[in-house]
Amino acid sequence: MSRIYNFSAGPAALPETVLNQVQAEMLEWNGAGASVMEVSHRGKPFMQAAAQAEQDLRDLMGIPDNYNVLFLQGGATSQFSAIPLNLKFLGAKADYAHTGHWSKKAIADAKRFIDVNVVCDTSSEGYRHVPAASDWTLNDDAAYVHITPNETIAGVEFDWLPETDKPICADLSSTILSRQIDVSKYGIIYAGAQKNIGPAGLTIVIVRDDLIGHFPGDAPRLMDYHVMAESDSMNNTPPTFAWYLAGKVFAWLKENGGVGAMAKTNQAKAEKLYSYIDESDGYYTNPVAIDNRSWMNVPFILANSDLDAAFLEQSHNAGLHALKGHRSVGGMRASIYNAMGLDGVDALIDFMDSFKAANA
Ligand SMILES: Cc1ncc(COP(=O)(O)O)c(C=O)c1O
Repeated sequence: MSRIYNFSAGPAALPETVLNQVQAEMLEWNGAGASVMEVSHRGKPFMQAAAQAEQDLRDLMGIPDNYNVLFLQGGATSQFSAIPLNLKFLGAKADYAHTGHWSKKAIADAKRFIDVNVVCDTSSEGYRHVPAASDWTLNDDAAYVHITPNETIAGVEFDWLPETDKPICADLSSTILSRQIDVSKYGIIYAGAQKNIGPAGLTIVIVRDDLIGHFPGDAPRLMDYHVMAESDSMNNTPPTFAWYLAGKVFAWLKENGGVGAMAKTNQAKAEKLYSYIDESDGYYTNPVAIDNRSWMNVPFILANSDLDAAFLEQSHNAGLHALKGHRSVGGMRASIYNAMGLDGVDALIDFMDSFKAANA
């Protein structure tokens, strides 16, 4: 067996240690005589594993007690609708920052349920920077402010929050657990699991107490945070395997120094790759403003796009997979989430350098 370096934006690489543990427990989990996928979510063993996963996530992110942690389905996309539905009791309008493909989608879905005010919009420049907070047109009567701190496709990230007394709702799908954040500054945090948490099929929502319990009576109950919080995310059958596996990833993160240690490695990985790109004499370029370069998703283009196909084929053959940029932007993209070590980034840089030498 040989494992590749997987630069996929998601579903993404998982820690090998975790996969080995899962493999060892596949036929029999926890003395159950069955796999974790085959036991009741309401039985004590699964309930304990589920509670432990939540506790570990709380420890890792420093989630205060007045926040609910929900383990849901439907992907981050379901939250594009769930957020306006749950929060429209706070007002008829909401503020949205439009800084990339995913915020654009969040805006389109929100508009079906609430009036949207776009506070900044970088679509016309192809999402290359995030405007300074002082340039955002925030509204006094907004129900909440929605942001996407890391845009997975354009590789645009910002680590600050707008100055506002409104609840901040953040799509952290591709940056959760990659660096430390102060959860108490957010109203809602949500993320699809398939990048830094576990397999696809699980969606984490972290929501402050005072924002639940005001759901419209005519909207789908499974989107009601109150229903899901009251039932410990078990109003219906939860995604048990994904939840269990996320718990293993949280334990792995704790054993490896937690989010602080990950952040150091992530910064080092990103800086090394961007430095190599910047110093390649224009052979490779990254179009994003330096302050907004993502630690997790590094898009780059070759000066000669005629070489794209050869780059992809040869990198694939060298064991460096899923480097093709998103279909909407082209070029390349290396997603370097928590499970990608510095060795993967070094292997990528070595390949880029030899490709450049052979094709300059
Ligand atoms: C930032 C961001 N938001 C939302 C989504 C959509 O997530 P899902 O496919 O879980 O609905 C993605 C998917 O890649 C993403 O990167």
